[in-house]
Amino acid sequence: MRVLVVGQGAREHAICWKLKQFPSVKEIYAAPGNAGISAVADCVPIGVADIIELADFAEKLKMDLTIVGPELPLTLGIVDEFQKRGLPIFGPTRLAAELEGSKVFSKEFMRKYAIPTANAISCSSIDEAKKAMKEFGYSCVLKVDGLAAGKGVLVVNSAKETEDFLRMVYDEKKFGTAANRILVEEFLRGEEVSFMVVTDGKKVLPLAPAKDYKKAFDGDAGPNTGGMGAHSPAVVLGAETAAEVMRTIMLPTVQGMETEGRPYTGVLYAGLMLTADGPKVLEYNCRFGDPETQVQMLRLEDDLADICLKVARGNLGDLKSLTWRKEAAACVVLAVEGYPDDFPKGQEVAIDPIDDESVVIFHAGIVKRDGKLINQAGRVASVCARGATLTEALTKAYAAAPKVRFQGAFYRRDIGYRALETVQTPGRSGISFRSA
Ligand code: AMP
Ligand code: GLY
Repeated sequence: MRVLVVGQGAREHAICWKLKQFPSVKEIYAAPGNAGISAVADCVPIGVADIIELADFAEKLKMDLTIVGPELPLTLGIVDEFQKRGLPIFGPTRLAAELEGSKVFSKEFMRKYAIPTANAISCSSIDEAKKAMKEFGYSCVLKVDGLAAGKGVLVVNSAKETEDFLRMVYDEKKFGTAANRILVEEFLRGEEVSFMVVTDGKKVLPLAPAKDYKKAFDGDAGPNTGGMGAHSPAVVLGAETAAEVMRTIMLPTVQGMETEGRPYTGVLYAGLMLTADGPKVLEYNCRFGDPETQVQMLRLEDDLADICLKVARGNLGDLKSLTWRKEAAACVVLAVEGYPDDFPKGQEVAIDPIDDESVVIFHAGIVKRDGKLINQAGRVASVCARGATLTEALTKAYAAAPKVRFQGAFYRRDIGYRALETVQTPGRSGISFRSA
């Protein structure tokens, strides 16, 4: 099989790394890829939003399968373009990707199909937003409707922050048309966890749940980021809750989308809050998670290309579940000081060799220039490890983290702490490092 992976982050590096392990995949291409990806795939300089060029390239090379990493090309309709040309591609169509592309659409959809989520009010002006915030007693979250590169959400904490956010939205128009509408949403308390499935539009198979650490600093302090670390199993999500999430959220979502005439195929990601009233959806993503994918790929035993091709053909066949290694996997993300706000680019990155097949470093913003590794993004690398227990996986990942060196490097020192606290709490049942 000849496979094209669209994207340039550590998530796409992890996908290419996994594809490479199976003899069914003979050739891997990545667009545009990164320095790490170039060790396992041929990188072609086409941007992720250049849909026509990507389709031309896939057509010319008679690509057997294309896997799309980021949300942007999906919301722009890359799948529709490939399907029009008869090219197999893994991901949802533009209409289906609106689950991520429009928070107002997804909120209305969840309401219609009784999928548990936070109450919310859709607002089109600053006055409406202020009135809605009052209705929630200011215990609320503001969300820009469209894609906003992770910057479009504010958990309301202080009047000053809120004024600044609303000024950015309405006066400075920083989010453009993405903020024509905003959601004012009830604040939910609980534990966050990521839940993903692959689906051909009918059959829905869960991926191993993963826990993502979104805040920039230790103790879940600081601003939200794309994700500073992850582990799988999620630990905070037991088998019973996972079954409840499938029954009350994932299956009704896929069925609802079919009823809407927007059949959903690919990976569906639900960011969940495990509240005292049960799991509720914070957001949908129409793609693999980052950094969740990095730990999931370390645990996946199945042939990823085969699964994705089946989905691209619209039929998972008799596949009943995906198989996962019993071991745990952990990921620590190295970022540049200043991330997620302003950060310098262009630093040279050094990576010391690692002689342990259970430790893998996935490159994020690293490119090769004149034989040197140069960083060009906020998140630079995902240092990942597998271990018999989560503690072992975390210990190995942390031991390897200093092997990636660049100016201004920082990483959280407490990835996994929520899980380890949970495990050490006496009297909780159904929690095990070893279950998916
Ligand atoms: P989202 O992009 O909607 O997932 O929001 C980004 C982050 O904001 C989430 O990962 C949560 O940490 C936080 N968040 C979003 N919605 C809520 C909510 N309703 N209650 C509490 N926290 C939330
Ligand atoms: N880790 C969060 C995301 O992929 O959106």
